[in-house]
Amino acid sequence: MSGRVLITGASSGLGRELALGYQAAGWQVWGCGRDAGRLAELADAGVTALRFDARDGDATAAAAAGLPPLDLLILNAGGCEYIKDAHQFDGALFARIMDTNLVATGHTLAAFLPLLGKGSRLAIVSSAVSWLPLPQAEAYGASKAALDYLAATLRLDLRGAGIGVTLIRPGFIDTPLTARNHFPMPCLLPAETAAYLIMKGLAAGRQQIYFPFRFILLLRLLGALPVGLWLRLARHLT
Ligand SMILES: NC(=O)c1ccc[n+]([C@@H]2O[C@H](COP(=O)([O-])OP(=O)(O)OC[C@H]3O[C@@H](n4cnc5c(N)ncnc54)[C@H](OP(=O)(O)O)[C@@H]3O)[C@@H](O)[C@H]2O)c1
Repeated sequence: MSGRVLITGASSGLGRELALGYQAAGWQVWGCGRDAGRLAELADAGVTALRFDARDGDATAAAAAGLPPLDLLILNAGGCEYIKDAHQFDGALFARIMDTNLVATGHTLAAFLPLLGKGSRLAIVSSAVSWLPLPQAEAYGASKAALDYLAATLRLDLRGAGIGVTLIRPGFIDTPLTARNHFPMPCLLPAETAAYLIMKGLAAGRQQIYFPFRFILLLRLLGALPVGLWLRLARHLT
């Protein structure tokens, strides 16, 4: 199967691997980001690069002008920062992450959804983090939990237009985003493997894609524990 795909956050990490993967599979690929140098490298590989800051609604709308209808739209751009001290809550950091992961997704939906029609698919990259509250993930986790709800409601409301919606909830992937983490990351996957699993799941028309299986199972089991028990266990994580 091939077609036209637009991927946000394609200048780095998971999005870059997805862009190169679809390109290699014969798709026509638009890859978005902000970093001019990394976008130029993508363009050298045959991907049409679109440079804009997704937190800017006007710039995002301008990037969509003149694009043809798409078969697949992957909203993957995102960032991660941790709340170091919840008692001295960093409101600016919280706003920054909400802006990047949630509000910007609204701008990209407004700009690119009109390019999707019957038989096409929207995919939103959330995270496995929303299955389990983890220390210092107040901002990142809340932004991703909001994306879960957003995808679930879009799935209902786009069904009539014949547009499928896939929610992608990966565990840890080896990318520049996680390279900054100074804690153990169980079951860390290479970005190429994560991109392969996502492409496979999207080709199968899956409503939800999550991996790696053992890590997700652990998160879901821990997430189902009584709150008091999880509070006691989570003490060992900080
Ligand atoms: N890595 C993981 O373990 C993991 C796990 C679960 C979910 N995820 C999610 O997967 C997605 C990709 O993450 P990654 O690990 O590949 O991170 P990454 O290597 O840091 O890539 C993030 C991408 O998002 C783009 N981006 C960020 N803010 C943007 C903005 N305001 N406007 C336009 N583009 C923006 C970046 O573009 P520029 O660099 O050009 O600015 C970059 O292409 C994120 O949504 C992340 O939350 C990652």
